[in-house]
Amino acid sequence: MKTLITARFDKSQTELLESITKDYEFAGYGVTGIKMPVPEMKEKIRGIELLISEFEDITREVIEAADALKIIVCCRNEAFASIDIEAATEKGIPVFRAAGRNAIAVAEHTIALLMCVSKNISLTDHLLKYTDQLTGVHYNDDGGKRAETMSEWSMDPTAPFALYGGGPEMFGKTFGQIGFGMIGREVAKRADALGMKVLIYDPFVEQAGMDYVHGQKTDLETLMKESDFISVNCNVTPGTIGIVSREMIALMKPTAYFVNTARAKVLDYDALYDALAEKRIAGAGLDVYPVEPIPAGDKFLSLRNVVLTPHLAGSARDIVGHQIDITLHDVKKYLAGEKPAFLCNPEVMK
Ligand SMILES: NC(=O)c1ccc[n+]([C@@H]2O[C@H](COP(=O)([O-])OP(=O)(O)OC[C@H]3O[C@@H](n4cnc5c(N)ncnc54)[C@H](O)[C@@H]3O)[C@@H](O)[C@H]2O)c1
Repeated sequence: MKTLITARFDKSQTELLESITKDYEFAGYGVTGIKMPVPEMKEKIRGIELLISEFEDITREVIEAADALKIIVCCRNEAFASIDIEAATEKGIPVFRAAGRNAIAVAEHTIALLMCVSKNISLTDHLLKYTDQLTGVHYNDDGGKRAETMSEWSMDPTAPFALYGGGPEMFGKTFGQIGFGMIGREVAKRADALGMKVLIYDPFVEQAGMDYVHGQKTDLETLMKESDFISVNCNVTPGTIGIVSREMIALMKPTAYFVNTARAKVLDYDALYDALAEKRIAGAGLDVYPVEPIPAGDKFLSLRNVVLTPHLAGSARDIVGHQIDITLHDVKKYLAGEKPAFLCNPEVMK
């Protein structure tokens, strides 16, 4: 099967690839780091039977220009972001997606953000490296005793121990998980492993499906009221837009932390900002924003009780291996006449 691979490719997956085809070439984003433009793609796609893409725009034009295409693989969670699935379906071409390719990466990042903000890791790291607020000061030396032991920074009320310590342990606390899909499940698993009580709100998952993380199915209001740490990981649907609303944020404990590594649309950012600025909640971690890149001077940039990352939760290097593994095993199932797990347009199989 003549194959074009424009996705990033991990050589460890060569055997798997060659179990499907030995006739393949690499080009585009996976080679150059730059998306192949549509006019070039229209040329390149001629004669190709299996396309393994990632970020290239596989538009209707490209699909119409394809004269031999039998299968499209998109190494993203959301294939529709790059592939015109309707156009592929019209031509009877199955489109596979790499569901969950970065579920572990995002889950780890989610927990990392919560730890950073609740333990003031980012703030104190910043103060130490980029200011002299913690280094250019002298504390009471306790009658010379500190100079002898040097085992503590200082117990002065103005010293870091008093100012930036005192964050909560996660162990024994309540973790609220909104959305229990590919990523939410990995986040909840880690919260469980940290010894937390896990509350889960996902109307599409039954209690039995939550038992393995010792999760307790609950309603959103209860979750917002009772949790010490809350993570939102639902996908964007008409039912989830603004789901973490001003009213929901108002239910949070003043000691609670919130993290969004899903999409900006699920959260009322103005309401979160107000809650953080007025210290009605303890802190937050954010990886996604209503406008990306987050504009210079954005109001969140001036808050001390928030840790921000520039939409990189899902960017771990390991996903390059995962994405090929997930999609090509699915393609093999399809070729063997079995039901694939992550086909975007199952109607093509009818
Ligand atoms: N920050 C990043 O780098 C990054 C990377 C990958 C994915 N994401 C985002 O993470 C989110 C989750 O991705 P995923 O792969 O886990 O998706 P998924 O489709 O596997 O899971 C989404 C879950 O949300 C649940 N859900 C739907 N409606 C709901 C509602 N009203 N209330 C509560 N739960 C509801 C679904 O039942 C499902 O279990 C997506 O928005 C995705 O775009 C972010």
